[in-house]
Amino acid sequence: MSHPADLIHLFNGIPFTTRSSVELLRSLDRFQAREDDLLLVSYPKSGTHWLAEIMKHLYLSKVALTSPMELGDISKLDELNNMIAKRIIPTHLSYDMLPRDFKEKKCKVIYIIRNPKDTAVSLYHYYRDNPNLPTIEAWSTYLHMFLHGEVVCGSWFDHVLSWEEHKNETGALFLHYESMKKDPFQSVRRICTYLGINLHENEIHEICKKTSFSEMKNSVEKENSDPNQTVCALTSSKKLVFRKGTVGEWKHYFTNKQNRLFDEMYNRKMHSSSLAKNLHY
Ligand code: A3P
Repeated sequence: MSHPADLIHLFNGIPFTTRSSVELLRSLDRFQAREDDLLLVSYPKSGTHWLAEIMKHLYLSKVALTSPMELGDISKLDELNNMIAKRIIPTHLSYDMLPRDFKEKKCKVIYIIRNPKDTAVSLYHYYRDNPNLPTIEAWSTYLHMFLHGEVVCGSWFDHVLSWEEHKNETGALFLHYESMKKDPFQSVRRICTYLGINLHENEIHEICKKTSFSEMKNSVEKENSDPNQTVCALTSSKKLVFRKGTVGEWKHYFTNKQNRLFDEMYNRKMHSSSLAKNLHY
C-alpha cells in the first residue's frame, strides 16, 4: 500500500497524517511539560475519546472543581502552551516519541489498551470513513498493513510494548477497554484512586451513565458545537468516532487463516508481555 504524500508521511519510519507535520513532530522534544500534566495514551481506536470524556466528568465533579482542566491536542502546541488550567493531553505517541520533559517531570499517564483484533476492525472503518486517511478497498490488504505497522501511528505491537517496557518509570495506569465495558464502575474507581480523587459511589455511577456509548453517541449527534473539535489530530469529525463500541466484532471480519496468522504474530511479539495476558484476547 502506498501512502499518498498529501495525507500520510513517514516520520522515523512511522506513518503519520500530514496534520502532524514534520516540523511539529521534530519540535515535540522541546515541549515543556508541567508537573501536573496528565497524559491519556492510546493506540488509535482503543477508546481514547471515551477515556477523555470520563476525565472531563471527573474534573467537572464537585471534588475537582478546585483544579479545572482543559483537554489539549498535542498536535496544537501553541494552544497547549497557552492553557492555564490543568492540562489533560490525549496522545497516540509511542513512549520513544513522547517529549522528554513529560518523562523528566514524571507526569501521570493513563494508557488504554484494546484487543488488537477489535482495534484493527475499528481502524479499518476509520480509514474508510475518514477523509484525512488514504482510501483502502480490501479488508485483506488493510489487515496486512495493520500487522506490519503500515497504518497510521505504526505497529500496535510496538506501541503497546514501548509503554509496557517503561511502566515502572512512568508508573502508568493501564486500563483495558474490555474491562471498562464489563465493569465501568470499577474502572472509574481505579482512575480515581490513581489520581487521588475521592468520589462518592453515586458520583461514579453518574459518570458511568454519562459516558456510556449510547449517551456519548447521542450527545455528539445532537451537538450544536463544532463537530470538528476532537481530541487528536487523527480525527476529522467526532461523529466518526462512535461507531459500534462493542467487544468481539473482529469475529465477523477475520477468516480462519487471517486469525491464525494474527495469532502467530501476536504470540511471537507479545509472549513476554504481562499486559497481553490480561487482554481477553
Ligand atoms: P468501534 O469503531 O469499534 O465502534 P478512539 O476514541 O480511540 O478513536 O476509539 C474509538 C472506538 O471506541 C470506537 O470503536 C468507538 O465506538 C469506541 N467508543 C467510543 N466511546 C465509547 C464508549 N463510551 N463506550 C464504548 N466504546 C466507545
